[in-house]
Amino acid sequence: PPVSVFGVPTDIGASRRGASMGPEALRVAGLVEAIAARGVDARDIGDVQGPRNPIAPPVQGYRHLDEVVAWNRAVFDASAGELRAGRMPIMLGGDHCLAIGSIAAVAAHCRASGKKLRVLWLDAHADFNTSDITPSGNIHGMPVACLVGLGPEVLTTLGGATPAITPEQVRQIGIRSVDPEEKRLVKEHGLDIYDMRYIDEVGMRRTMETALDGVDADTHLHVSFDVDMLDPSIAPGTGTRVPGGVNYREAQLIMEMVADTGRLGSLDLVEVNPALDRRNATAKLAVDLVESLFGKSTLMRD
Ligand code: ARG
Ligand code: MN
Ligand code: MN
Ligand code: MN
Repeated sequence: PPVSVFGVPTDIGASRRGASMGPEALRVAGLVEAIAARGVDARDIGDVQGPRNPIAPPVQGYRHLDEVVAWNRAVFDASAGELRAGRMPIMLGGDHCLAIGSIAAVAAHCRASGKKLRVLWLDAHADFNTSDITPSGNIHGMPVACLVGLGPEVLTTLGGATPAITPEQVRQIGIRSVDPEEKRLVKEHGLDIYDMRYIDEVGMRRTMETALDGVDADTHLHVSFDVDMLDPSIAPGTGTRVPGGVNYREAQLIMEMVADTGRLGSLDLVEVNPALDRRNATAKLAVDLVESLFGKSTLMRD
């Protein structure tokens, strides 16, 4: 399908500033041109707008809740509009709290069109905290919880009365940092987590085969890609780096295997922080990976 790229220039869900510059960094690295070079009709529809970052401490376990809600409503509207127009939304973050809006829109679209939804959550973190267990109050550590209905009502009902998704629809890959209470919660809700140990033991190919199991012609595949999934040695430009991440070849294989399904329906590209980067290396790497996500390969297809 044709693609619409939009930027969400905010770091409202984080405590470290700079992810607000992510959209421009990705554009400068040539994201839209790279997708267009795959023969896809790709359009940059600009940035959505929202409130400035007040840089405030958490209130009752949430930092910047009102502003997070405002930004996510804007993301929801932008994503929903593109989906309605039959276009694939690609959201350039911004921090990962914005996946609440994008995935809520995708879930609503799937519900309306009778499609199954599978969410591939590529991240170092489970992002499954709630206000009572968060170590930081940062809402970018909470989007998966909010999407399954654990969180403030303003966020859990962003896309309608029922939670956007169920834990069974999510597969998390690259995980290596889960907070103590968060661990208990992911177990309790049965999240399907392929952590770095799993990847080391079974390999990325089998990991992805398992994570994509059941994806069929009726499935809309949403990829939520937090660049901190990648090892910090190749992706230094992100705010919550964790050592021992996914390497270059594993990351390429993830994207190639998603491309092979032919079911990619929407994408978040989040947590690129140019203030922490080395000459835009992280955005450039993300663009490389997106090329694979859109089918670029050495021999097989072009
Ligand atoms: N678990 C930590 C927290 O809740 C870190 C979350 C990082 N999330 C992210 N999207 N980078 O504060
Ligand atoms: Mn559709
Ligand atoms: Mn994340
Ligand atoms: Mn992360």
